[in-house]
Amino acid sequence: MKIKTSSLEDTKKLAYAFYSAIPDDGLFVTLTGDIGAGKTQFIRYVLEFLKVDKKVTSPSFVILNEYKTSKFPVYHFDLYRLEEKGLKSIISELREYSKTGYLTFIEWAEFALDEIPSNSLKINVEYDENDVDIRWFEFSSDKNSNKDFLDKFEKEVQK
Ligand SMILES: Nc1ncnc2c1ncn2[C@@H]1O[C@H](COP(=O)(O)OP(=O)(O)OP(=O)(O)O)[C@@H](O)[C@H]1O
Ligand SMILES: [Mg+2]
Repeated sequence: MKIKTSSLEDTKKLAYAFYSAIPDDGLFVTLTGDIGAGKTQFIRYVLEFLKVDKKVTSPSFVILNEYKTSKFPVYHFDLYRLEEKGLKSIISELREYSKTGYLTFIEWAEFALDEIPSNSLKINVEYDENDVDIRWFEFSSDKNSNKDFLDKFEKEVQK
């Protein structure tokens, strides 16, 4: 499913539809795409709707942020600054947080595709060729993964 957003407001609405479809036991999400396309912005809106209590991780630790919500713990990895060595040190965490019971976002997943479990809900974000305010969000999943989520999400988007 590929969706066009023409403004931050559109992206926020899309994040609300996404938030509304997240199952009670969480979701494992990987994000890829153009630099500065809107991955972090989308995650921030989802966290806003989840009413994140507080940021748990120290802000100087840039690879992984952890948040508490009333539903499930949220983990946000940003692999952009990871080097080879750093990747090895977090592989076990990537795997652990891909399991059910967490909401996990892995931003810049292209840097660790071989290491990331394939059951993720995939979001690819790209710029529009003609208009800097237009961004394309594509949501997909491997066969047999996240089917219920995608069905529900599609309905929420159409509301
Ligand atoms: N339709 C839109 N949706 C999302 N962001 C938009 C849109 N139009 C403009 N923007 C702007 O694009 C920028 C997106 O930045 P953001 O940090 O979310 O991107 P990113 O994909 O996480 O970047 P990075 O590759 O550095 O991780 C923000 O400055 C935001 O205001
Ligand atoms: Mg980002």
